[in-house]
Amino acid sequence: MDWHSAFARRTERMKASEIRELLKLLARPEIISFAGGIPDPALFPTKAVRSAYDAVLSDPHLAGQALQYSVSEGYEPLRSWISSYMARRGVRCGVENIVITAGSQQGLDLLGKLLLSPGDTALVTAPTYLGALQAFNAYEPRYASFSTSGTPSPANDEGERVALAYVVPDSANPTGETMEEDARRNLLDLSAAHDAPLIEDAAYEALRFEGEPQRSCQSLDIESCGDIDRSRVVYCGTFSKTLSPGLRVGWICAARDLVQKVVLAKQAADLHCATLNQIVIHRVALEQYDAQVERIVGVYSKRRDATLNALSRHMPDGVAWTRPTGGMFVWVTLPPYLDGAELLSLSLREEGVAFVPGAAFFADGGTGNALRLNYSLQSEQAIDEGIRRLSGLVARELRGTGRCAAVA
Ligand SMILES: Cc1ncc(COP(=O)(O)O)c(C=O)c1O
Repeated sequence: MDWHSAFARRTERMKASEIRELLKLLARPEIISFAGGIPDPALFPTKAVRSAYDAVLSDPHLAGQALQYSVSEGYEPLRSWISSYMARRGVRCGVENIVITAGSQQGLDLLGKLLLSPGDTALVTAPTYLGALQAFNAYEPRYASFSTSGTPSPANDEGERVALAYVVPDSANPTGETMEEDARRNLLDLSAAHDAPLIEDAAYEALRFEGEPQRSCQSLDIESCGDIDRSRVVYCGTFSKTLSPGLRVGWICAARDLVQKVVLAKQAADLHCATLNQIVIHRVALEQYDAQVERIVGVYSKRRDATLNALSRHMPDGVAWTRPTGGMFVWVTLPPYLDGAELLSLSLREEGVAFVPGAAFFADGGTGNALRLNYSLQSEQAIDEGIRRLSGLVARELRGTGRCAAVA
C-alpha cells in the first residue's frame, strides 16, 4: 500500500518539524533544556488528585457515574464551577455557554472544523502558537497577520473571507507578551470589521506574576454588545497550566449558538471527555484552585526573574528579549544575520543547551533570527548556567566565526 497517495489533501500541511530530530537529543541528561513548554511536574497537585480519584472510586454511586459514558457538553458541576470562574473574569455566562474540551487544543481543532472552509483567511499574530497553526492547517486556511497592538487591518483580496481571528492575549506562547486593553479593543474592532469570530486563547491567563489582570477580550466585547450570546469572542480555557495537562480538561466559553455546534462536533470527535477526569478536576479546583495558582506563580515568577537576570548579565549587545509579566516563555531576538535553527544545532552539540528556534511559530515562514526560551522546567541555577553557555555561543557567533548560516 502506498499510503502517501491514500492521504486526503488536507494532510499536505501535516508535517513533522525539522527540529524534531534535534530535539530527540533532549533525552541526554546533561542537556539544559529551554525547549519544552510544559509545567513543572513537581508542582502538580498530586496528593489532591489522588484523594479525588480515591474518593470518587470508593463511592459506588459516584464510581458508576465516573466510569460511565456521559454527555458531550461535559460534567455539569464542572461547567458550573467554570461559569463562576468566568464571572470573576468579568464574563457573565451560564452553564449552557460552556462546553468541556480535551484541553484547549481540542477546542482549537473543533473551532477550526466549524469555522474554516478551504481558502478562508485566519488572522493570527506573527509569531503565534504553533499548536493553533497545526489545528487550523487541517482545514486549509490562508493566513494573514495582525500585530499585537491589534492593528493594522490586512488588505483583503477581493472575495476573501476572513473566517476567524486567533490570539493569545496573556503571556503569549511564544513571546511571553501580554496585550494592553487598547490593543485588545483594536483587535475587537478588527474582528468586527471582518464580522469574524475572535478566538481568545487564555491558556496562560492565570499565570500572571504581577500587576492587575488585563480585562479579557470576551469581557470587553460583552460590555459593548451587552450579552455573551451576542459576543463574537470565543474563549478557550484550560486546566493544563494550573492543575494538570495530563488529565486533558479545558473548555470553550461562548455564545450558545456556537456552543451547541461545538457540542455536535465534540460528539462526532470523541463523544465526551473522560468523565472520571472531569469529576476529579472539579473536586481539585473546588478545593484548591486559587492556592495552586498562587503556588505555581511563586515558583515560575522566580524562574522568570532568573531568566531575565541571566540574559542581562550574559547576553552580548545586539540581542533583545521580551520581559513577560506571566506565563512560561521569553522571546529572544538575535541580530538578523544569525539563524535560530543553525544556532540550535551548534548549541546542542557544543553547549548542551536546547531551545526552540523562532521560525517554527510563523504561519508562512518568518523571522529566523529568534528563539523561544521556556523557563518553567529548570531550576534557577540551571537557568543561569544554561543562559551563560548559550550567551557564550551567541557571542562567538557574533564575533564572526560564521558557522551560523546567514538568514536570507
Ligand atoms: C497558547 C496555548 N494554547 C493552547 C495550548 C494547549 O494546551 P492544552 O490543550 O493542554 O489546554 C497550549 C499548550 O502549550 C498553548 O501554549
